[in-house]
Amino acid sequence: MAMKFLVTGGAGFIGSNFIKYILNEYPGCKVINLDKLTYAGNLDNLIGISKNKNYKFVKGDICDPVIVNRLIKDVDVVVHFAAETHVDRSISDAGTFIKTDVFGTFILLNSAKNSNIKKFIHISTDEVYGSIEDGSADEDSPLKPTNPYSASKAGADRLAYSYFQTFRVPVIITRSSNNFGPHQHVEKLIPLFTTNAIENKKLPLYGDGLNKRDWLYVIDNCEAIDFLINKGVEGQVYNIGANNEKTNMHISHTVLKELGKPDSLIEFVKDRASHDRRYALNWEKIRKLGWRPKHDFDTALKQTIKWYSENRWWWSKVKKGKFKDYYQKQYVKRWQGIS
Ligand SMILES: NC(=O)c1ccc[n+]([C@@H]2O[C@H](COP(=O)([O-])OP(=O)(O)OC[C@H]3O[C@@H](n4cnc5c(N)ncnc54)[C@H](O)[C@@H]3O)[C@@H](O)[C@H]2O)c1
Repeated sequence: MAMKFLVTGGAGFIGSNFIKYILNEYPGCKVINLDKLTYAGNLDNLIGISKNKNYKFVKGDICDPVIVNRLIKDVDVVVHFAAETHVDRSISDAGTFIKTDVFGTFILLNSAKNSNIKKFIHISTDEVYGSIEDGSADEDSPLKPTNPYSASKAGADRLAYSYFQTFRVPVIITRSSNNFGPHQHVEKLIPLFTTNAIENKKLPLYGDGLNKRDWLYVIDNCEAIDFLINKGVEGQVYNIGANNEKTNMHISHTVLKELGKPDSLIEFVKDRASHDRRYALNWEKIRKLGWRPKHDFDTALKQTIKWYSENRWWWSKVKKGKFKDYYQKQYVKRWQGIS
């Protein structure tokens, strides 16, 4: 039987990639995309499927129980991406994060409690583990979030688990590492540095540039989520990683090299407050279940840089819009690469 999905935050980076992946992979399924269209939501991400008869967009807030109750009635699977996601913004405006990431998740879970859904995939993050000095975090490692974004996500993550334990909502939680790929908002590292380099602007690199992240190509994450909808066990948490641990410095040099730009474009800027040094995941659990990433990091990064090079129309609109106003107010000095 073809499944019906309610995807929240489907106009954002991972959500839009996921919706396109699902509609392409399972032509019979139906997808409702509930998205508030915050500064991060962009319907340009969904060009190509907007007229697909199996796809429906609903502009709305996950904090609104009326809308959520109405939409959840008819679906089999909820995939919950909607969130405020940018750590820098959480430092200047934590309240929005608590509201959407924690309270919004509560509204969805409460609605799911009274529905017939078969799966509730809660999209959490590796950032809930906090900075990992040595080794890697597995699903039983303590949660030690260090900024309002990761703390809100940790709250939502445990709230989702509590709804499984208390009410048997069929929750599965994913904690993936840093995603990259097409349609990621230009405030995030790889799109910001790529688009700045294309425009011969500075690449504002935090601190000493040696913070490490484990990078995951967004399509690999979409496949992992799809895999868990079918093979994941309710009440369980699954880390999704790819063993691509790279420093931000390495990413900066690779972007510049790929675009034929000089290293002098790198500009060291004052570090972010409470900047986690390193994220590292142990993802043996999902690997043992049978999933592994298919994309080679270097090739996927090159393809991603190429995508931003070829899709200036997409990101120049974003850079000229609300994003510009925000950074002009908050980070005039730090982010002077943006004009
Ligand atoms: N990007 C990453 O590297 C990464 C890694 C691990 C986990 N995650 C998680 O994956 C999810 C998606 O991340 P992303 O990078 O695609 O985010 P994004 O910022 O690109 O997109 C978020 C989307 O949520 C929507 N949204 C925000 N508040 C809403 C609300 N109240 N109601 C309805 N919609 C709302 C926005 O309009 C936007 O379309 C998030 O939960 C994030 O925490 C992201």
